[in-house]
Amino acid sequence: MMFHLVQNGLLLFVASLSVVFAEVKLGGMESWGFNGVRSGMVSMMSPSKLKIRGFDYSGEGPAVWFMVGKEDDPYNEEFAELKGTIIADENGSCDKLARYRNENIMLTTPEGMNFTDFDYLAVFCTRFNHNFGFIELKRDAQFGQDEIAAYADEKRPKQCPQDPDNDEEEEDKVEEEKEEEDKEEEDEEEDDNKRKRKKSFVASPKFAPIAPSATK
Ligand SMILES: *[C@@H]1O[C@H](CO)[C@@H](O)[C@H](O)[C@H]1NC(C)=O
Ligand SMILES: *[C@@H]1O[C@H](CO)[C@@H](O)[C@H](O)[C@H]1NC(C)=O
Repeated sequence: MMFHLVQNGLLLFVASLSVVFAEVKLGGMESWGFNGVRSGMVSMMSPSKLKIRGFDYSGEGPAVWFMVGKEDDPYNEEFAELKGTIIADENGSCDKLARYRNENIMLTTPEGMNFTDFDYLAVFCTRFNHNFGFIELKRDAQFGQDEIAAYADEKRPKQCPQDPDNDEEEEDKVEEEKEEEDKEEEDEEEDDNKRKRKKSFVASPKFAPIAPSATK
């Protein structure tokens, strides 16, 4: 009897633990050590949440983002043209990745995407097609009811530009050109107004300038 009570209590305890700590463990990130990329345990916490523990990256890559992609990409090679989707960092920013020092971070997929739709997450430099590190995701990951329920309420980051390195330069250029055009327009308007003011000044007999000779 006593034994049964203890056993049932233990089972209940274990069952509740498995609900609280439901996560799909993927192992540590694979990497080549370039720019110090490495991680501790990476886990899928829900269809849209990926936890990376103890993440390290020097921040020295010129155009590096988290990218998720599919199995036809050679994501386990250091130099490879990965055609995945860039996703926001743990704060929902699409800026290139800065330095991480042994940090625990949680990545979230944007609306309409789940980590379970992809085969890898990489830390990828789009400028040099340099794969700094990757982890294989599990499409068949199963989550508890709590995680699925929480999924609907999760705040999602925006979708990131997909060629941010080039887009940035392109945007800057467009911005600069626009500024120049605006300035030219402003200058023209200014000149126009000046001309108009001058004209009306001269044209209006009320304000006709008094010739210097007339004052003498
Ligand atoms: C994210 O936000 C935290 C807390 O504000 C901050 O410490 C961290 O540097 C941010 N990370 C990035 C990549 O901006
Ligand atoms: C993501 O996963 C959730 C929970 O399983 C599901 O309801 C949703 O339809 C999925 N979204 C996409 C875009 O696959």
